[in-house]
Amino acid sequence: MIVHPTIAGLREALAAQPRIAFVPTMGNLHEGHVALMRIAREHAPCVVASVFVNRLQFGPNEDFDRYPRTFDEDCEKMREAGVDLVFAPGEREFYPAPQSCFVQPHPAQADILEGAFRPGFFRGVATVVTKLFNIVRPQVAVFGKKDYQQLMIVRNLTRELALPIEIVAGETVRAADGLALSSRNRYLSAGERLQAPQLVRLLREMRTEILSGAGDYPRMEREALENLTAQGWQPDYIAVRKRLDLQSPAAHDSSLVILAAARLGPTRLIDNLEV
Ligand code: PAJ
Repeated sequence: MIVHPTIAGLREALAAQPRIAFVPTMGNLHEGHVALMRIAREHAPCVVASVFVNRLQFGPNEDFDRYPRTFDEDCEKMREAGVDLVFAPGEREFYPAPQSCFVQPHPAQADILEGAFRPGFFRGVATVVTKLFNIVRPQVAVFGKKDYQQLMIVRNLTRELALPIEIVAGETVRAADGLALSSRNRYLSAGERLQAPQLVRLLREMRTEILSGAGDYPRMEREALENLTAQGWQPDYIAVRKRLDLQSPAAHDSSLVILAAARLGPTRLIDNLEV
């Protein structure tokens, strides 16, 4: 496995590769990321992963400076997962001047759910992903369902900008108690870590209710918010949406997903479950 800190170096190393599968990350890797790299392995003889904490997608009061950076451990995991090349640029290599050109998804995609609580987040994600795609030029790119709205936005930008890249989705990898793995789980205190699976339990209860015929989604969302709040969480949203565009479903719509974001102490967790 070779680590490339520069765009020119990576491009040169990839020039002769006929088929590349790519997994973009912000590092601090866990089994969720590793699972995506294994999926990538199945899609191409050459697997590229990137490790870059993208300033553009962090709000002014978010955790950019404290975002965990664990590059040596990350390299161990990537090596074991069969990654061939790692693109790990420094800030100045990736953004030599402040980025002035952006990929802006439509507000109907970017300003709902996560975007409503993290202004500019999906502009930052869409811009960095497009730039990474231009640098790596993969045939396949793998993203996790854990970040469901991000996956939808990446699928849309790939289609609408006619990028010749197949987007593959990986299932959310969870701890034994159900908590979705996330780099931010390390911010949880021991007590909060024990409490954290309440979020996915609530999503599972909602899914069971929907599968048994319940159709009053606004009522279910309201009750779920109250339930989490009563258990000491500060929820941002819990929403039943259509999988395809994350808009509110009509009574007859199937193919749904329930998405949630909530703060437990200082830590903001997100999760979702397809119905
Ligand atoms: P990051 O949070 O590091 O996640 C990288 C990839 O891992 C994303 O596709 C994410 O959905 C996936 N992932 C995270 N936790 C997962 C889990 N428990 N199970 C399965 N997949 C999981 O998402 C980003 O970075 C950034 O926004 C990025 C796309 C790299 C752009 O900066």
